[in-house]
Amino acid sequence: MGVAIFDRAQASARYIREHTSNPIDIAVVLGSGLGEFAETLVDPAIIPYEQIPDFARSTVEGHSGRLVIGQLPAMPGSGQRKNTVAVMQGRFHYYEGYALEEVTLPIRTFGALGVKRLILTNAAGGVNPLFKLGALMLITDHINLMMISPLRGQHDNRLGDRFPDMTEVYSREYQQLARETADEMELALDSGVYLALQGPNYETPAEIRMMRVLGADAVGMSTVPEAIVARQMGMQILGISLITNQAAGLTNGPIDHESVMKMGSQISRQFGEFLGRLVPKMVKETTEHTE
Ligand code: HPA
Repeated sequence: MGVAIFDRAQASARYIREHTSNPIDIAVVLGSGLGEFAETLVDPAIIPYEQIPDFARSTVEGHSGRLVIGQLPAMPGSGQRKNTVAVMQGRFHYYEGYALEEVTLPIRTFGALGVKRLILTNAAGGVNPLFKLGALMLITDHINLMMISPLRGQHDNRLGDRFPDMTEVYSREYQQLARETADEMELALDSGVYLALQGPNYETPAEIRMMRVLGADAVGMSTVPEAIVARQMGMQILGISLITNQAAGLTNGPIDHESVMKMGSQISRQFGEFLGRLVPKMVKETTEHTE
């Protein structure tokens, strides 16, 4: 056996702590084309993944592959304290050939850094025919059709339960805060079930019809392994999909990575503002309740 994942996460966390001393209030994983939020952070420590011991490398276009830790400027006049946010600009995917242990090591590392709150974002295809292009979908639940769990393998008690509960992966409290924030901005926010596949090929129309029957509203190739690991570690999670395209067969056209990324960059600024308003509420809410 190699080094235990727990110890690898501790080593990565130690390295990150050398770059920033502030406790991290919340971690955010930004999906394809959604990287802009990281640019709004003040006094950032910017750490490319390849410098972090044990982190894999991001190989996909649209994922820049760096960790940005900085302060979120407080809203003027809000009296809020500044929040320290750790943002992953880009993530690792199973389809890149990494084991799910590698894909989820950053989440383990956040756990080792004491992070309790997590926002997972992604680009996804709209399976629900009512979803418009560029819509944001609050993830209410997921279906793991990757058909593999990141928790498979020898169990290590230091990581959490062997059989973690998955009845509320995505915090209802956070969903409520996200809805309030979207209302404030008059931003449309759909909600639904995210279905994860291994990829990297997009789906066939027949597969999409099957997913609709299964109860999926959006389909993508990420997020679920990270959410499972984060739940095992007791984090509270908010999940958001950007609907970058209608899923296969819902329109006549093909699906391609360029237009997926283009949609991401079109909404990236507004999405950054949304997160900027939402994060302080999430930190405040859970601080009042639990600390
Ligand atoms: N399918 C799977 N993953 C995706 C899609 C899709 O249509 N769009 C963006 N990510």
